[in-house]
Amino acid sequence: MSTRYPGVPDSAHFRYEGSALTCDGVPLADLAEAHDTPTYVYSRAAIEAAFRRVDDAMAFTPHLVAYAVKANGNLAVLRTLAALGCGADIVSVGELERALRAGFPAARIVYSGVGKRRDELRRALEVGVRSLHVESEAELAAIVEVARALGVRAPVSLRVNPDVDPATHPYIATGLTSSKFGIPLAQAEALLPDLVRSPHLEFEGFACHIGSQLGSPTPLRDACAIMGALAVRTLDAGIPMKALDVGGGWSLDYGHEANPYPPPAAYGEAIREGLTGSGVLARGLTIVTEPGRSLVGDAGVLLTRVLYRKHQGERAFVVVDAAMTELIRPSLYGAYHAIVPCDESKWAQTETVDVVGPVCESGDFLAKERTLASVQAGDLLAVRGAGAYGREMAMAYNARPRAAEVLVEGGVARLVRTRGDVASLFAGED
Ligand code: LLP
Repeated sequence: MSTRYPGVPDSAHFRYEGSALTCDGVPLADLAEAHDTPTYVYSRAAIEAAFRRVDDAMAFTPHLVAYAVKANGNLAVLRTLAALGCGADIVSVGELERALRAGFPAARIVYSGVGKRRDELRRALEVGVRSLHVESEAELAAIVEVARALGVRAPVSLRVNPDVDPATHPYIATGLTSSKFGIPLAQAEALLPDLVRSPHLEFEGFACHIGSQLGSPTPLRDACAIMGALAVRTLDAGIPMKALDVGGGWSLDYGHEANPYPPPAAYGEAIREGLTGSGVLARGLTIVTEPGRSLVGDAGVLLTRVLYRKHQGERAFVVVDAAMTELIRPSLYGAYHAIVPCDESKWAQTETVDVVGPVCESGDFLAKERTLASVQAGDLLAVRGAGAYGREMAMAYNARPRAAEVLVEGGVARLVRTRGDVASLFAGED
């Protein structure tokens, strides 16, 4: 796609060929014809390229890129990443089963989350995940109990809350002590002596995740400096550890001109810089990072058709068949997603409109007061950046069946999850 269009991020994978918007050569209009709308379309090549960018940015140290499955848990997406040697960061047993089904070895899976149930802990220990990221003293006690019952040593990392302001939307900021995540640093250090003596626990190291879509890489650098110093203190105290997990937060440039986000290399550099001062990089640890959106966000679009146009007062509305039910980010965070016509000739005229869905909420919008290509009923639009936290956060509100998902690989499109049908709306009901 050309940078000629303001507010639209450049992509090697979603580009106009002739006047048709394509995903790696496949016209999106053909996919709308074959699979109807709304439909998520993912580019396998874009996922692979994004993984390589993050992996290259971490090349300065032995590392594991553990993809945050919550960004997009579609099995075809997961298989793509598993085949590249990527690891997985999970937050539920459901995500664990997805990751295993997709071929991630348990030894490359780390398990985060503040509220792991005992049955979830049991399953994770049975399959042999690499590390349970412990978020409280109470959870550590539960892990000891479950490990004792199973007769295994549970691999654990302490998820530390480094109290760094990630400068992001408050709903996705996690690294301040006012959030529910992690253990305050001093408390984590105080837990260590008992932890390393326990016959039911194996100390892996420390983890943190300060937040998502970081406004700049600087808070990540600051968190890494704190985590690096903590690791060095621990090693110097004679406590062996294997890994330091610095979390996700690698931002994605959604194309909002007022908010340009730096490229992945800048986040890798921030991690390197942050870890360098303490000397931790010479201590033989594996550095784990947990990117989600930066691996899949711009590898996906949400394809939607214009249903109607209407005017009310001063405002022009474009009513489309996708809604907050398929992409909640604009409604929930006021997030920006570029919206482009699938026919490039529509750019000949632009206008300022609200793009809204059919859901009965005034908060149901995909864009507000946005200058877009001028479109009419029946035209197709692609909402960019929908590969992460799109389908994964979808809901069936207003009895809307789940949208279909298509993966384009090697110039061929494959339906990788069918659209929910009417029967799916009644599933499990008496
Ligand atoms: N690691 C942990 C422990 C996390 O909690 C998260 C995201 C990540 C990694 C991945 O963050 P990422 O690299 O994707 O920024 N629904 C929100 C995002 C919530 C993220 C929660 N945790 C959104 O659509 O922006």
